[in-house]
Amino acid sequence: MPIYEGVIDRYRKFLPVSDETPDVAMGEGNTPLVRSRRIGPELGCELYFKLEGMNPTGSFKDRGMCVAIAKALEAGSTRVMCASTGNTSASASAYASRYGMEAIVLVPAGEIALGKLAQAMAYGARMIAVRGNFDDALQIVLRATEEMEITLVNSVNPHRLAGQKTAAFEIVDELGDAPDMLCIPVGNAGNITAYWMGFTEYREHEHARSLPRMMGYQAAGAAPIVHDRVVEEPKTIASAIRIGNPANWQGAVKARDDSGGTIGAVTDDQIVSAYLRLAREEGIFCEPASAASVAGLIQLGESGEDLEDKTVVCVITGNGLKDPSTAETTAKVELEYVEPDYAAVSKILKNGRAGG
Ligand code: F0G
Repeated sequence: MPIYEGVIDRYRKFLPVSDETPDVAMGEGNTPLVRSRRIGPELGCELYFKLEGMNPTGSFKDRGMCVAIAKALEAGSTRVMCASTGNTSASASAYASRYGMEAIVLVPAGEIALGKLAQAMAYGARMIAVRGNFDDALQIVLRATEEMEITLVNSVNPHRLAGQKTAAFEIVDELGDAPDMLCIPVGNAGNITAYWMGFTEYREHEHARSLPRMMGYQAAGAAPIVHDRVVEEPKTIASAIRIGNPANWQGAVKARDDSGGTIGAVTDDQIVSAYLRLAREEGIFCEPASAASVAGLIQLGESGEDLEDKTVVCVITGNGLKDPSTAETTAKVELEYVEPDYAAVSKILKNGRAGG
């Protein structure tokens, strides 16, 4: 068996690459599609989780970043830049360092999950903390990459979306057809746009017979597409999708309308509840933004939507280790301190678990 390289090698003929494009790969893609054991059966559907947190930097961003970096190298660029709520910056920094480029990342000051900050630092990125939100940072990056010789690697770069659509290909390859529904968190709206491109393209090439309904979920405090207006001060516990003016807004609307889907809102309470259920009932530790997809599906089930025998895929966009502080504050598990001897441990185990 040949060694798995990455999405460019696997889906070359669907991507904007040629023999001149440098090879860029770090094993991204090929992520597990894991069957739900509790949430799916409870809702009456055949539910799968696409574990995108298994990518090299722990989020789906690597699928598109490898293509964006390959094309930047091909064009002779030496510097890349992005605005980010954390995952794009981690991914850009990793691929830039691996291929000898400089990464410049703009993040909203004080709003990035600890693990993502640590990643970009470790990869050696130049980090600029903007005293504002993601939308402010993106405006600055759009102008900087226009006026200076720096390649933009946010998802307005079409190569990012081209790479990200490979996740839809993988789902179809594995299930044998598209699912009935795809549930996905929506922030800057690049991913939902890319999945829809992937599903439609794969059907045009007759790899799939059907198309899924695209079910996108924003956080209630950061739901511009749901309300059809810019949110000036987006707020949510899910920092990855704390975005008030998504760059790919129209792509998300098109995916929703063409697929007969929806873009809905889920509250922070619903997100945290889904986040903990995923960890405690499915063994899947994701970041809060990722749980928005599952929160949305649960909400859909509660609203009376007929999910019976439907095949549903929830995209789990990022690894839970990215955001340890949210795990600590929401899980509310107290450490039980003991003296270092067997008697102390056996005594507390006989007493049962504190608080329950
Ligand atoms: N889930 C996670 C874990 C994310 O990091 C993001 C976006 C999304 C979902 C939403 O995807 O933006 O394509 O709609 N993160 C970007 C970043 C904004 O900067 O890392 P989207």
